[in-house]
Amino acid sequence: MSFLEKHKKIETNATLLLALSFVVVSIGGIVEIAPLFYLENTIEDVDGMRPYAPLELAGREIYIREGCYNCHSQMIRPLRDEVERYGHYSLAAESQYDHPFQWGSKRTGPDLARVGGRYSDEWHYDHLISPQSVVPESIMPSYAFLADVSIDGGRIGDLMATHRFVGVPYTDEMIENARFDFVEQATDFGDTGITDRYPGAQQRDFDGNPEVTEMDALIAYLQMLGTLVDFSTFTPDESR
Ligand code: HEC
Repeated sequence: MSFLEKHKKIETNATLLLALSFVVVSIGGIVEIAPLFYLENTIEDVDGMRPYAPLELAGREIYIREGCYNCHSQMIRPLRDEVERYGHYSLAAESQYDHPFQWGSKRTGPDLARVGGRYSDEWHYDHLISPQSVVPESIMPSYAFLADVSIDGGRIGDLMATHRFVGVPYTDEMIENARFDFVEQATDFGDTGITDRYPGAQQRDFDGNPEVTEMDALIAYLQMLGTLVDFSTFTPDESR
């Protein structure tokens, strides 16, 4: 029986085709899935990654609430054009504390995974108040109302406890100090312990208004995006 004839037998017998397809798909599935049972951790730990500081976490909530992910991704793919435009490709560890992650699937606007430090706070402020004032051809909507909404972090500790519940390593000390750190990050720039709890946390008045507003929180979040890992010293772990 020639090869084609044998194949004809399979193709004309639905039950046989189904059974053999099942075998083939199972082998593929086992090869992909089984190794995951033996790996203790599928995310390589990377120096510099830490949970979000309370104000940054609040900014992230605003980002999600306003649907920024509908137009912006936070995932730089390891392709030359993306790396040249946005910087080092995103590491799994960089979204390790994101629940839910913000990779997104649409880029009406640019990727934001490494937007931190790219612009000044004033630029972000002006851009969020009126995108067209800094980028005339922009189609991004205005978020000016964020500057008028004062926030005090009253419920941020609960949110952090919820994140701890799903695996983010917030300590009791972090949760106890949540509201304090929340306000201090945008108002008092002395040595208040925030940078011990959240190394590299940027402390300043992000929106130029002494009150803590949603604008402060969102800019604090944008300014730290992609800045935690030091790529001048980072080397991928090749041992895996
Ligand atoms: C309707 C789509 C849309 C939505 C929704 C949107 N943006 Fe944008 N965004 C854009 C476009 C288009 C640009 C590019 C032009 C510009 O800079 O305004 C942009 C640019 C940006 C930039 C500058 C990025 C860079 O590298 O130049 C930032 C930061 C930004 N958006 C933040 C946000 C945030 C935060 C939100 C949610 C509060 C948001 N955007 C919502 C479309 C959108």
